[in-house]
Amino acid sequence: MSRVESLLRSMTIEEKIGQLNLVTAGQTVTGPVVHVETTAEIRAGRVGGVFNLWGREAMAAAQKLAAEGTRLGVPLFFGLDILHGHRTIFPIPLAEAGAFDPLLWERTARVAAIEAAHEGVSLTFAPMLDVARDPRWGRIAEGPGEDPLVAVKMAEAKIRGFQDRALEAPTSIAATAKHFCAYGAATAGRDYAAVDVSERALHEIYLPPFRAAVEAGCAAIMPGFNSLAGVPMTAHARLLREYLRRDLGFDGVIISDYTAIAELIEHGVAGDLTDAAALALRAGVDMDMMSMAYVRRLPEALARGLVDLADVDAAARRVLLLKERLGLFDDPYRSIAAGEYSRAAHRELARDAARRSITLLSNDDILPLSADVRRIAVIGPLADARAEMLGPWYSAGAAEDCVTILEGLRFALPNCEVVFHAGAGIEDDDASGIAPACDMAAGADVIVLCLGEAEKMSGEAASRAMIGLPGRQRELAERILATGVPVVALLSSGRPLAVSWLVERARAVLATWFLGDMAGHAIADVLTGRYNPSARLAVTWPREVGQIPIFYASRSTGRPWNADNRYTSRYLDLPVEPLFPFGHGLSYSHVVLSNLRVAPSDISADGTVEIVIDAQNIGAFETEETIFVFVRDVVASIARPLMELKGWVKIVFSPGESRTVALTLSADSFSFPDENMKPKIEPGQFEILVGLDADRKNLLATVLNITST
Ligand code: BGC
Repeated sequence: MSRVESLLRSMTIEEKIGQLNLVTAGQTVTGPVVHVETTAEIRAGRVGGVFNLWGREAMAAAQKLAAEGTRLGVPLFFGLDILHGHRTIFPIPLAEAGAFDPLLWERTARVAAIEAAHEGVSLTFAPMLDVARDPRWGRIAEGPGEDPLVAVKMAEAKIRGFQDRALEAPTSIAATAKHFCAYGAATAGRDYAAVDVSERALHEIYLPPFRAAVEAGCAAIMPGFNSLAGVPMTAHARLLREYLRRDLGFDGVIISDYTAIAELIEHGVAGDLTDAAALALRAGVDMDMMSMAYVRRLPEALARGLVDLADVDAAARRVLLLKERLGLFDDPYRSIAAGEYSRAAHRELARDAARRSITLLSNDDILPLSADVRRIAVIGPLADARAEMLGPWYSAGAAEDCVTILEGLRFALPNCEVVFHAGAGIEDDDASGIAPACDMAAGADVIVLCLGEAEKMSGEAASRAMIGLPGRQRELAERILATGVPVVALLSSGRPLAVSWLVERARAVLATWFLGDMAGHAIADVLTGRYNPSARLAVTWPREVGQIPIFYASRSTGRPWNADNRYTSRYLDLPVEPLFPFGHGLSYSHVVLSNLRVAPSDISADGTVEIVIDAQNIGAFETEETIFVFVRDVVASIARPLMELKGWVKIVFSPGESRTVALTLSADSFSFPDENMKPKIEPGQFEILVGLDADRKNLLATVLNITST
């Protein structure tokens, strides 16, 4: 009999339930090793895993309590949110998504896993795979942006990076795909709000990244806080048991979100905590994070026949199997992982990831900065804001490891005079710094204006109803723009910002998001032209909040927008187009595409097609371009989106270089869910659209026929 089965046989019901309990250590780096109650709970065999704890000594002390101090010595696993790096902090996922580079996504996750495993972490609550189309939602920062294919590719890459080839490898950590599912569709972008999307939207948009996660061998899945058409995900038997377990064959651990089981009461689907515990377990949730509902109430639920012992056994088995896969029974302290790693190499990767994540939104011939620039005024509250560079969810990252924008520029431009004034705070109402900042800026050759959000303004519980610049920053920017000195504006943020007024008036605008430790150096690399910007937007930027939700893959309407016809789908007071479309992002070069063709032009429903285009770099810089392939099913039994991303190619072009670029798609790329949500391909015409962003005007188009034979 396997170790797990014989262990299960020797466990009491309480010990089995204990394995289902996941508690926070509530530790800050300088705090006590574990809370007193946590210590007592672990000793009593009532804890299966601990999270929010890092550092070898702290981990070892907690592990000793379980592995050496409990009757059966079942080790704990240690969980932590590692969204964009552990010690070395990389760009936030939404920014990194813009690199459109699965290898980069994997490498940063690998480094995060190495650093975290080194400190005893065995599981992370990442990747976050919530497709999000509402920038009011602060958690848009944590995920892949608006497109399901990007989310799928990110799921695969991040899981490979965290888990590597095998979970028991000393530097592997278990990944948790979250938040299952459609959490990003929170009503009006308000965190934790209810979600009500169609079955079709689930299957087309929100489920694919989780299916990819399961196929990639993801060890765990976390249901979201949200309800879905009235059913909280923590109690969603159909999606957890039927879809994940039965249809996809997911055999990993389902871990509740923080106090989400107890919240079933507040949702209004459970009368008390016993009810809540029973609902969650019956739905398929194996572990209870911080509700203490399982340890406190499952015994009663069992006695009252609300749950079966078989469900407790199955959940405990899955937790024990995870521990076995992680090698924790043989090496509870994961001592082999303690080997050294090169922090310098990790910081180099952080710099590369950061510059690959910077999106050049506009540039009226001011960037890269001319070699003649002698005096630069760096103005704005984000210029010298070390801790803000980390962004939300920075794990064990530290402000002192961050390079500020000001430092990066001073370091990169030793022969320039770089003067600085914050001008205003990020959020406060004090305008007294604006005039002195303008005075300082007046004599400069160029102003680098560093605006944006504080790191705490995105991430969890950080929705904003107005997504402009907070505090007095707009006033600062208007006055700085009025000096007449050319302005390069940098936007640090966890979301798209509605700043069309700034884009109209600044000579260049860059989305610099939250780039992590090496923010300042990466930004200087881009401004000076040492790195030619290559990132593209993984999310549409609206002009105004009123356009939200706005995303490229919208469906047609019977009255498509037409500027000359009032009775079409439009606003009276705003254009329908976004400020910047999905995929937008400039470089210092210019690639022109021509001669789009498909070969063959007819394929059968099990065939493949090659999409071919000629591309030439007509600029003077070496450039890395992303060429997107979109598809539209012209006539189908269900109205299809106007464009769906089906693939992309990233290519480096030297100045003047011409290349023929090809991407192969198999016919299943042209399928969509039928009325039973099973993929089907309807023969007919498909428009193939290729280009550098999702603005239809900028795309080349051709037609592919799919035949029925
Ligand atoms: C968040 C999760 C996170 C968990 C543990 C929750 O509040 O929604 O994303 O993994 O806390 O920190």
